[in-house]
Amino acid sequence: LDDPNADPFEIARTAAADIARTTGVPQHDIALTLGSGWGKAADLVGETVATVPATDVTGFSKPALEGHVGTLRSILTPAGTRVLVIGARTHFYEGHGVRRVVHSVRTAAATGAKVMVLTNGAGGVNRGYSPGQPVLISDHINLTAASPLEGATFVDLTDLYARRLRATARSIDPSLAEGVYCQFGGPHYETPAEVRMAGIIGGDIVGMSTALEAIAAREAGMEVLGFSLITNLAAGIQESPLSHAEVLEAGRTAEPVISQLLARVVAAL
Ligand code: 6GU
Repeated sequence: LDDPNADPFEIARTAAADIARTTGVPQHDIALTLGSGWGKAADLVGETVATVPATDVTGFSKPALEGHVGTLRSILTPAGTRVLVIGARTHFYEGHGVRRVVHSVRTAAATGAKVMVLTNGAGGVNRGYSPGQPVLISDHINLTAASPLEGATFVDLTDLYARRLRATARSIDPSLAEGVYCQFGGPHYETPAEVRMAGIIGGDIVGMSTALEAIAAREAGMEVLGFSLITNLAAGIQESPLSHAEVLEAGRTAEPVISQLLARVVAAL
């Protein structure tokens, strides 16, 4: 993936073949990326058929962070749907390039997945949000100044976070808030001025993932559904300084609720 002459889609097809061989599951229907706070949320989705260390799959880098589990899992839902659970995210801020950031999404597409469910832990900008609350992503603002698309690849991003799938999620939980996700480059949190800017330009949530992955999913022809777990309010919105420990703690507290939400949504997709 670091070789500019290599074809990232070819590498994704090799990774998909690795997954088929190591899990014994030739194809998947849905892919699910677990972000901060969502680590255990897939446990109710179905029965885990196989777990593979991400390092055994072509193109996946080592997990960088506590709370980010480096495995890929094949889950079989009660309805017979095959779900590829991606617990190995490469973040833009790691500096390994956008190809690595979106490799799991391209791999998911190469396994046959038609729906990409992206989850993350994020900061709340919208003053109506509380820590521990899940929010459905309605749209995004990509503030990384990067794109997973290379060359003159023009991809339409209207309805990127599919209206159809959001309606399905809201039918499961009509109280779900929806919001616009702003992806910042990180790894520092935003300044209060940057958080004010995010609000002024139409953002409700700030985070360090998801938008680039969603773009790659759309390019690959998948439908996208996104959820943020509000782990804390963003700088200047909340009084106290932000800490990674707080992010992990909010995830643990919200776990039972978001686990059930995710399982019921995946069952309905
Ligand atoms: Cl406040 N900002 C960003 N960019 N990511 C976060 C966050 C804030 N809180 C959790 N993740």
